[in-house]
Amino acid sequence: TVIHGIDLKAELSAEQVQFVRDTLLERKVIFFRDQHLAEDEQVAFGREFGGLDAFPFGKSGANPYILEIRHGKNRPGTENGWHTDVTWMERPSLGSIAQCVEVPPVGGDTLFSDSHAACLGLPPALRERIGNLHGVNDYRVFLMSRGPGLPDDVIEAVKRDIPFGVSHPLVRTHPETGKPALYIHGGFLRHDSLFDAKTGVPLDKAESIDIVGQLLSQHGQPEYVCRFRWSEGSIAFWDNRAVQHYAASDYYPNNRLLRRVTVSGDKPYYD
Ligand code: SIN
Repeated sequence: TVIHGIDLKAELSAEQVQFVRDTLLERKVIFFRDQHLAEDEQVAFGREFGGLDAFPFGKSGANPYILEIRHGKNRPGTENGWHTDVTWMERPSLGSIAQCVEVPPVGGDTLFSDSHAACLGLPPALRERIGNLHGVNDYRVFLMSRGPGLPDDVIEAVKRDIPFGVSHPLVRTHPETGKPALYIHGGFLRHDSLFDAKTGVPLDKAESIDIVGQLLSQHGQPEYVCRFRWSEGSIAFWDNRAVQHYAASDYYPNNRLLRRVTVSGDKPYYD
């Protein structure tokens, strides 16, 4: 859904903030065009929806709450897999607000997939099987891919402050709408780590890997997906508890730059 007739540079009224929040909850991802927010304005807009998370693996810039997602000739796109953000955190983000600062001449769209629909569309036996299952998520893949470019003190602080493994349910109850959603990040989830959250009993590793494999293809079904074509100054605000996203990496060697602000979330649960 594209929301028109609202200037995000201006101070928003309580009614406008409530309208944006309600529309986000209903539609799961919302878009704005021609906003061209300065970094501080984008941060201020994010703060209307809660606290913000600074991304520990980003390069430190002027504003710690702005994450630059920059790709080009020497840095091909890497976010071209279906994912929900930061599942390695105990309290993964509520949502993200990304603004396009540099758009490639062709391509670079972001696709969003409805995790509630993806959950409802699972084969009934699989849906039943995963109801009580949790898996362990781990950010070390980031340390391998981004670690070499980060200062030592950042790496040490990350290792000290963030646990290596946090468990989350595979089906997550949305804390505001109550809707169940398929909740999985195939890069961070250890595929052999599923266990029954009621008994604590781990699954046989082969079964765990098999279940994760079946779930990972689910969000890609076109029936659940919308696709957003960026222009400079466009904003996408997605509910990280309710959708997954995929950044199409089809614009190499052109440049593409997004700036993202991340709104703090809470601990996922299933009831
Ligand atoms: C991301 O937040 O994963 C990146 C989104 C994008 O680059 O479109």
